[in-house]
Amino acid sequence: MDYEKAWGCIYEIITSKKNVLESVVHFLYSTFSAYSWVGIYLVDGDELVLGPWKGQQATEHIRIPIGMGVCGAAAKTGKTEVVEDVKKDSRYLACFLSTRSEIVVPIWKNNSVVGEIDIDSDRLDAFIDEDKEFLERIAQHLGDFI
Ligand code: SME
Repeated sequence: MDYEKAWGCIYEIITSKKNVLESVVHFLYSTFSAYSWVGIYLVDGDELVLGPWKGQQATEHIRIPIGMGVCGAAAKTGKTEVVEDVKKDSRYLACFLSTRSEIVVPIWKNNSVVGEIDIDSDRLDAFIDEDKEFLERIAQHLGDFI
């Protein structure tokens, strides 16, 4: 994957200021073959609420209490969570039987977490350092649109 080229596309989406969250989700899902489900959760009080998402199936986890699951952990600490093997992480809330690894990247605004990017992969250990850095770079810009 050419992350710099992908960043160029993301940058265009961000600067257009139109449907940014939806467009970023769609771009990531359609560009990265290892990403089998891409969603953005939004912080609502002490819960995360599912915003735009793209994948073959809907998740039943529309609302997740902050502190619960991998998503809730990332929202609580404000730090990216990379789960190499979801079967070995007791915090993991199962959405899809096919998921083997997951990354959750918090979105900050005014010194608090306002949302997060959540990506599942059907591949074990799918998320390398470049994915983490690329997604964190995107997340730095998304707070403006939440
Ligand atoms: N697996 C997540 C729940 C969200 S689904 O992956 C879409 C978790 O453990 O918090």
